[in-house]
Amino acid sequence: MNDEAVIRAMKESDLDEALKLWRISFNVGFSTNFDTKEILIKYLNRNPGLSSVACTKEGKLIGALMCGHDGRRGSIYHTAVYSEFRNKGIGRRMEQRSLEELKKAGITTGFLFINVNNPGSKEFWNSIGWTVISNIKYLYKEF
Ligand SMILES: CC(C)(COP(=O)(O)OP(=O)(O)OC[C@H]1O[C@@H](n2cnc3c(N)ncnc32)[C@H](O)[C@@H]1OP(=O)(O)O)[C@@H](O)C(=O)NCCC(=O)NCCS
Repeated sequence: MNDEAVIRAMKESDLDEALKLWRISFNVGFSTNFDTKEILIKYLNRNPGLSSVACTKEGKLIGALMCGHDGRRGSIYHTAVYSEFRNKGIGRRMEQRSLEELKKAGITTGFLFINVNNPGSKEFWNSIGWTVISNIKYLYKEF
């Protein structure tokens, strides 16, 4: 499957299928109140070409990753692959594609958040070269 999975830029028309995948994939940390399709469309338009999807050769979406930057650092959100397609390098290939696009925009560092309750997420990111920064806490505010 790895050889056949197509990795490409996420389009607005992928969002319904990506939302289905994310709802199924995340035990916690995915809010459909916050991550509405409208908000995600704005995110894609603000960060053209950076988010990635994986599809079968028939075109079915099987993986998705959101990526953007703030002009200084890149960020990655919502990385998921359907369970039957995991451990075939698809998560890694989506990350590689998005980082290549960030590099083209002059961005060469990035951050992401993991929810420790998602099994295997820390191991996955460590395996592909991301480091946990233990002295930094994530702060949050609604305004
Ligand atoms: C995490 C996830 C995206 C990984 O996708 P994937 O396509 O299976 O990952 P890959 O096959 O590209 O794996 C890349 C590396 O990570 C490692 N890895 C992947 N999942 C792992 C797991 N659960 N435990 C330990 N290592 C894992 C692989 O062994 C591989 O390392 P290697 O190249 O040294 O062998 C997928 O398991 C998933 O969708 N999980 C549910 C959603 C989730 O928790 N997402 C992370 C949010 S922070």
